[in-house]
Amino acid sequence: MGNIRLLSEATINKIAAGEIIERPASVVKELLENSLDAGATRIEVEIRAGGRQLIRVTDNGAGMDRDDAVMALERHSTSKIRESEDLESLKTLGFRGEALASIAAVSIFKLVTVPKSGSIGTALEAKAGVIKSVQEAGAAVGTTITIRDLFFNVPARLKYMKSIPTEASYIADLIGRLAMSRPDVSFRLLHGDFEVLFTHGTGNMAEVLSAVLGKDIAKDLLEIGYEAENLRIGGFIGKPEHARSNRHSQHFFVSGRTVRSPLIGAALEKAYKTLLPIARFPLAVIFIELPGTEVDVNVHPTKAEVKFSREDAIFSAVYRAVSNALRLNELIPSWKMKDD
Ligand SMILES: Nc1ncnc2c1ncn2[C@@H]1O[C@H](COP(=O)(O)OP(=O)(O)O)[C@@H](O)[C@H]1O
Ligand SMILES: [Mg+2]
Repeated sequence: MGNIRLLSEATINKIAAGEIIERPASVVKELLENSLDAGATRIEVEIRAGGRQLIRVTDNGAGMDRDDAVMALERHSTSKIRESEDLESLKTLGFRGEALASIAAVSIFKLVTVPKSGSIGTALEAKAGVIKSVQEAGAAVGTTITIRDLFFNVPARLKYMKSIPTEASYIADLIGRLAMSRPDVSFRLLHGDFEVLFTHGTGNMAEVLSAVLGKDIAKDLLEIGYEAENLRIGGFIGKPEHARSNRHSQHFFVSGRTVRSPLIGAALEKAYKTLLPIARFPLAVIFIELPGTEVDVNVHPTKAEVKFSREDAIFSAVYRAVSNALRLNELIPSWKMKDD
């Protein structure tokens, strides 16, 4: 009798962190999505030891006042939705209000934020989710969040970390994807003193593709485009000779969100079917835009997966977009031959 108790807030946050914060790259994803939601146009990420020792994200976004900065660390606190109906018309990447609480629960956390020029900033420090200090601070408008010693209080998770280069490569991949989804935003990734990635944020997609995928591949990509009722597809695909032995070079975005999607992958690969040998996978960057009522982004705590309401329509649109571009490309050499 009387054995059941409510867990403490700190314990609840630590448990939730297990779902959302799997590794350093998960922290970077959540922090960068927050920076983008805050309207940042310049975001710098600094990591040490593959993010295990330190992750620092600095943005020039809207910042927070003191009350919001304290509130932001509470679980289920968000400025982005007010009620569940808002989920159908999301304009932001975040909405669950649990990332900062989760990250802070498993790290040594510092936040410095300034809401608008001339106003006083706030510096907040927390350890294992417990706020240690809140002070006034001066800084440029925007927000800097520093995470040290991720998982210092979750030894089981620490053991599961991969090598420094591997964790760093997950972070670089992720920032590359975000950069492709937002060519209008400048991203910089520094690993120690080494600049791993930089985009200018001028909106020039060719420049971003070149920075993320490499110059040689970027100049050889084929553009795809397709429109159907309530659905728009755009992006770039690699020629068959640029196919890979794994699917790491397949990047899918749904309404601006980077997602994993076996459905999009299957449609893509079906279009390449006769062009590639077994176990070779096409390179692709595919953007799908559709109304919020046609896609559920709230199926996974990390929002890495989405549920489409019309899967068949998505599949055939992706298939057509890709196969049209491939067909068009095959026409080019035959026309050339005629002219010669
Ligand atoms: N970089 C940032 N700039 C401005 N506000 C931020 C930033 N990061 C977080 N916030 C604020 O803190 C809140 C909580 O963030 P988070 O826990 O990630 O939840 P969510 O993004 O789902 O709202 C956000 O809703 C936002 O108001
Ligand atoms: Mg968030």
